[in-house]
Amino acid sequence: MSVQKEGKAITPPDVAARKGGAKLVCLTAYTTPMARLVDAHCDVALVGDSVGMVLHGLPSTLGVTLEMMILHGRAVRRGLERALMVVDLPFGSYEAGPAQAFVAAARVMAETGCAAVKLEGGTAMAETIRFLTARGIPVMGHIGLTPQAVHALGGYKVQGRGAAAARVLADAAAVADAGAFAVVLEKLPTALAERITAEIAVPTIGIGAGAACDGQILVVDDMLGMFTDFRPKFVRRYAELGRDAGAAIAAYARDVREGRFPAAEHGFADATQPAV
Ligand code: KIV
Repeated sequence: MSVQKEGKAITPPDVAARKGGAKLVCLTAYTTPMARLVDAHCDVALVGDSVGMVLHGLPSTLGVTLEMMILHGRAVRRGLERALMVVDLPFGSYEAGPAQAFVAAARVMAETGCAAVKLEGGTAMAETIRFLTARGIPVMGHIGLTPQAVHALGGYKVQGRGAAAARVLADAAAVADAGAFAVVLEKLPTALAERITAEIAVPTIGIGAGAACDGQILVVDDMLGMFTDFRPKFVRRYAELGRDAGAAIAAYARDVREGRFPAAEHGFADATQPAV
């Protein structure tokens, strides 16, 4: 088991080599300042298409465009030194077939400087993953709850319960066999994720898929508690930034209205007077 040495940028083969080893620590990032914070502690920074819901107020990830992913990808690139940067291919940019996926992935890599792309789907995407990886594009898979298919799945539901487990197992095997260097498992029963992790040769990265996965990922704004009214069961909050930011803005508003801000120390002295 080896943990990445400080200072060296993590590559897709480094991540693949962590199968069964030190847990992979992954978070999303969409901006330069957040990328810097993530880079200090994480192995993978994912520019997820969740950016559409988290930063742009969209109702789902379906409205996210390639241009949005590239804009946020470029911002994240400027904040990373060590973590592997992965960018999501957004809905509609890759599903038509391998050639469409290649054009989208090549553009994302060339314009953002990321080292890998992530795309959603299992057996249906195996041919595309094989096509991309054969052409030098590292691909992270994403199976189980695939948010871009929210309407087909009937909501953001746990996948792979009961008889549906067989389909998810087949998806995991197909994505790994096609050459993905890692696979995100989203919202799966813990036992099923454990079985997939034992059966496939590449690392599994869980989100709502239990502790047996080779790594974990969360949406950074969720674990920082940015949304006071959104509490998914699979998220542990490590801060309450939404609550604290609300309280800070309320205090500022009170101070401005009641003349307590700015105070003398926030002002500038006349050039002819000594600085205060
Ligand atoms: O878009 C995203 O943020 C994701 C992860 C949370 C896996 O796909």
